[in-house]
Amino acid sequence: ENHLAPYRPLSGRTALVTAGPTYEPIDPVRFLGNYSSGRQGYAIAESLRDAGADVTLISGPVSLIPPDNIRVISIQTAQEMLNACLEMLPVDIAVMAAAVADWRAKEVSNQKIKKTGDEKIPSFELTTNPDILATISRPNPHRPKLVIGFAAETNDLLDNADTKRKRKNCDWIIVNDVNPDTKIMGGVENEVTILSSSGKQHFERADKKEIGRLLTKDIIQFFNH
Ligand code: CTP
Ligand code: CA
Repeated sequence: ENHLAPYRPLSGRTALVTAGPTYEPIDPVRFLGNYSSGRQGYAIAESLRDAGADVTLISGPVSLIPPDNIRVISIQTAQEMLNACLEMLPVDIAVMAAAVADWRAKEVSNQKIKKTGDEKIPSFELTTNPDILATISRPNPHRPKLVIGFAAETNDLLDNADTKRKRKNCDWIIVNDVNPDTKIMGGVENEVTILSSSGKQHFERADKKEIGRLLTKDIIQFFNH
């Protein structure tokens, strides 16, 4: 008997994790984006890997080091993230930690938009991006057994998140407060509440890596029941 054998309760399980922002092009030099660092998604992917899961990480543009022993697929836009996710199905676990841009330019200019010299300011029409989490969560034979979403909120956190969980049909939703004074979005720490149909659980402010480990413990429990 090898007492040093690692404890791998998620071995044999597959996991899909999205992380980071998406960048939506406006012209060859400009994009719409957001402040997501990717840290929370990467930390979750790493702790699922450490628990033995076979992890695919679909990542927007971030400045993090690609983790070992995780399949990393780099994308830019929401549409590319959706396509990459759909290609990975079926999986057992999906964690959608990415801060997906809600809108993209309806038409992307293939030439740089120039200042005209007069006071005319350019304006662009936007169109809505597909909702990746809602797409993955739709009831169908390939739906992952456990779908976890995030809710980035600035006000009425729990109410907004609960509505979001139901609308998107995910099993758990992880609520975080993205007011700039919390330094959560783009920062190294997080403080979250996890909502499910059966209740709520709070994780005190901690490094995003620790939040990833705590979430992984809950995921392990889910599969042991
Ligand atoms: N999400 C997604 N695809 C989108 C938008 C969001 O998969 N086009 C996912 C995020 O990865 C996150 C969850 O949905 O897991 C909630 O994202 P959030 O931005 O909080 O919610 P929205 O539904 O976009 O609503 P709003 O931004 O208006 O609060
Ligand atoms: Ca959004």
